[in-house]
Amino acid sequence: MCGIVGYIGHRDSQNILIEGLKKLEYRGYDSAGIAVYTDKGLQVKKAKGRLAVLEDQLTGAPLSGSIGIGHTRWATHGKPSDVNSHPHTNVQKKISVVHNGIIENYIQLKEELIAKGYVFESETDTEVIAHLVSDLYEGDIVAAVRKAVKRIHGAYGLGVLAENEPDKLVAVRMHSPLIIGVGENENFIASDIPAILEYTREVYILNDGEMAVLTKDGVTLTDLEGGPVSRDTYRVDWDMQTAEKGGFDHFMLKEIYEQPKAYRDTMNPRIDGGRVVLPEVGMTADYIRDIRRVHIVACGTAYHAGLVGKTVIERLTRIPVETDVASEYRYRDPIINKDTLVIVVSQSGETADTLAAMREAKRQGARVLAITNVVGSSVARDADDVIVTLAGPEIAVASTKAYTSQLIAFYLLGLYFAQTLGTVDAGTVSATIDAMEKLPEQVERVLDQADVIKRVSEQIKDVDNLFYIGRGLDYTVVQEGSLKLKEISYIHSEAYAAGELKHGTLALITEGVPVIALATQEALFEKTLSNIVEVKARGARVLGIANEGDAEMAKSVDDVLYIPRTLPLLTPALSVVPLQLLAYYVSLARGNDVDKPRNLAKSVTVE
Ligand code: F6R
Repeated sequence: MCGIVGYIGHRDSQNILIEGLKKLEYRGYDSAGIAVYTDKGLQVKKAKGRLAVLEDQLTGAPLSGSIGIGHTRWATHGKPSDVNSHPHTNVQKKISVVHNGIIENYIQLKEELIAKGYVFESETDTEVIAHLVSDLYEGDIVAAVRKAVKRIHGAYGLGVLAENEPDKLVAVRMHSPLIIGVGENENFIASDIPAILEYTREVYILNDGEMAVLTKDGVTLTDLEGGPVSRDTYRVDWDMQTAEKGGFDHFMLKEIYEQPKAYRDTMNPRIDGGRVVLPEVGMTADYIRDIRRVHIVACGTAYHAGLVGKTVIERLTRIPVETDVASEYRYRDPIINKDTLVIVVSQSGETADTLAAMREAKRQGARVLAITNVVGSSVARDADDVIVTLAGPEIAVASTKAYTSQLIAFYLLGLYFAQTLGTVDAGTVSATIDAMEKLPEQVERVLDQADVIKRVSEQIKDVDNLFYIGRGLDYTVVQEGSLKLKEISYIHSEAYAAGELKHGTLALITEGVPVIALATQEALFEKTLSNIVEVKARGARVLGIANEGDAEMAKSVDDVLYIPRTLPLLTPALSVVPLQLLAYYVSLARGNDVDKPRNLAKSVTVE
């Protein structure tokens, strides 16, 4: 949510900033800007719209200089506009700031600064920081930033550049991700690794309350009091190709097709001799035996993975599990104590709602296990135990391979607990592992049926409403399918427990309304089929998704897609794939920007 890049070194910075911002555009894309220290002093260019608009403006009038900061925005305070775009500057245009996050006390600070005579140009909270730093500046930008951050409350990743001190860049982190790239005679700041990976693999991952001062020749880390912080760099072990489209038209499609690999990578190192091994989970057998309840907390797609996780853990261990949306969790006064295991799920590991819920759970004495895709993320660092999903970087705003890797993580965790508790026998554990090992190849067989989905997407692309139905685990999966469609196609859809339609929603089923029906749960197949027949009788046009061999489905629906048979518990890892493809192809058919849907951004670092 908002992307920051900064450069100080021996090369011209404009290109590095723009190329870096392109890699971060997934974090926000309603406007962009850069500030560069040029031979005419600090100069800023910023523009509403995609980064390409800014690039066009820079083509005729480049900003030349070897120190600069850049920003791509996801609006919080003030609509997308040229003036609300970052960087923001002080009145004299000599201090420039880029910011990711929200300054909660900005109104109070703004009033104070206005009373002192400062004139604001924008509606943003960020501009307050530029004027505040200016107000506190006495010839030392590091000292001024340090004083300023003591006055601001909220979340911030900051990059600050002062015309009077063009030999340094200042970066500060509080609840918004920021990394420092360490190069040779050049250093970088960025919200995320892909922005700088072309230049260096050595990074510092800043913690909350840490500041970095970058010069061309070095990086100094301190806390907010100026006390030294010493830390080794982290070496990034994946390369740029992983974060590029690699021949696919969109990141989302590439990431859908990467799922077999993501399954193998997440699963294989954790399976040994027919058992699950999770050395990263440091829980003793006694601790696991004492768990009385599990809370799974997450947002959006990760929450949907948590819904599957609930069924997996309950079926395998008989421990009661509740799954909560993170933004609600804290406010419902959940019953948490030392027997409660809280599992937080987050692809980015930086989602503000999830982090806040996790901190509340820890405050109340729970042990927290994180399932995340990002090593070194805030969630990973604050949790007691971490299972890293090895899906590789996920760039498309619509999450796909992260979701399915989270499912794999839940299967592994559920089996691991079950092995320890003896709640399922060794034969069942090894049979489940055998079935899991077949999933990657089975996903490939689902992907081979993309043509069926393309055909159905043509029928759906112009509708205003559609419905997804399913029972049991199928109901959890259709919730994810419906979210995926909404976020990238902008078509309204609802996911319903198939048995619930008759209690109200059936009134909305009329001639030609599309219904996507999932019926992969053997024990519920007949019942879901009855619900399909009910919507058909009211004129719905149905795409049915069922297990291979369930030929009854084809007789009852307009279009059918069969997924390979697996254990009922594992079907979500296959049945979600056609729903991901459906959302992709409908979005494409409607001419939308699949990877960057309107109003959204990846990594939601504001509450
Ligand atoms: C939807 C999507 C979001 C995220 C949610 C949580 O496709 O990606 O719903 O799942 O914002 O993000 P993470 O997993 O990064 O915490």
